[in-house]
Amino acid sequence: MAAAEQIKSLIKFFGEGDDDRFYTVAMQIAASEARKGHTNVAQELKSLIEKAKSNRSQTFSDRNRTIPILQPKRELKDILDVFHPKIKLKDMILDIEVSTSLKKIIQEQENWETLQKFNLAPRRKLLLTGPPGCGKTMTAQALAGELGLPVFIVRLDGVVSKFMGESIAKLRLIFDTMPENRGVYLFDEFDSIGSHRDQGQDVGEIKRILNSFLINIEKDQSNSIIIAATNLPEMLDKALFRRFDDVIQYPLPTIKEIASTLKKNLQAFDFIDKIDYSNIAKIALGLNYSDIVRASEDTIKEMIMGGSEKLSKKDLIKALEKRK
Ligand SMILES: Nc1ncnc2c1ncn2[C@@H]1O[C@H](COP(=O)(O)OP(=O)(O)O)[C@@H](O)[C@H]1O
Ligand SMILES: [Mg+2]
Repeated sequence: MAAAEQIKSLIKFFGEGDDDRFYTVAMQIAASEARKGHTNVAQELKSLIEKAKSNRSQTFSDRNRTIPILQPKRELKDILDVFHPKIKLKDMILDIEVSTSLKKIIQEQENWETLQKFNLAPRRKLLLTGPPGCGKTMTAQALAGELGLPVFIVRLDGVVSKFMGESIAKLRLIFDTMPENRGVYLFDEFDSIGSHRDQGQDVGEIKRILNSFLINIEKDQSNSIIIAATNLPEMLDKALFRRFDDVIQYPLPTIKEIASTLKKNLQAFDFIDKIDYSNIAKIALGLNYSDIVRASEDTIKEMIMGGSEKLSKKDLIKALEKRK
């Protein structure tokens, strides 16, 4: 059985809505069970924690609750996924420029009524670019979390079909829903609109779909936030950038940012040996945030499965190097 202290902490962190520390304590319980030789219980706890984590970070796929709103347009169900994110900006490690831009967006959104009095509109049409695993998708969730809005993730594979007319009509459907369902609308990896050649469109048709998307963005007058994200900005025509209020570039993390990411993910645990995050971070230069988070999780798993209560620096280095 878990020590009373650990149960008290669990309840406390649950009450405070502090997911990170809640999982950390739960992991510690799993670790101490493993150390006592209760491997099955430890395994079971570990998989429960992982399931809980993924459910919550997927942030309550709440399709049922939103169906009433979306019911009149049944077609939307196949092209939009709705989530209610809990994460906040502080859950992300961000480059100073990116974080300044995002804070400005939040501030303007929070004060949209004041801006409106002066005939001004808050920034809300955003293009996020940069390599994979650097926080573009996470940003859509964090903005929604900060503003208490749902995030609608557009399933582009559901939108783009063999028939150009149908694709354009589906896009229209999404934009039509924005005024009455305020939220963060994420067109993730939207450059894929341009790469559906296999579906039999010619280059001209693809261009027209992409164009229709951009015209919709330009015309939109709702108070929803529209985010287009792409890993391949070089695929995009520069002229397109001006249709957005903000173009935000997500760089790979620097050594300092890597060190902060490692610390954020591992600081709840002790290391067997002394750890210098900045030193370790040097090994990970070139990795993206996603790799670093996963390497941290691998290190925690090694600890738990090894029946130890402390992390091993060697495991961390190995996990980071494996992802290079
Ligand atoms: N800036 C960041 N700060 C903290 N964690 C991050 C950051 N960027 C990415 N991650 C981690 O990597 C995962 C994948 O990131 P994601 O937002 O999907 O990247 P992208 O959309 O840029 O490919 C996130 O769920 C998170 O765990
Ligand atoms: Mg993404």
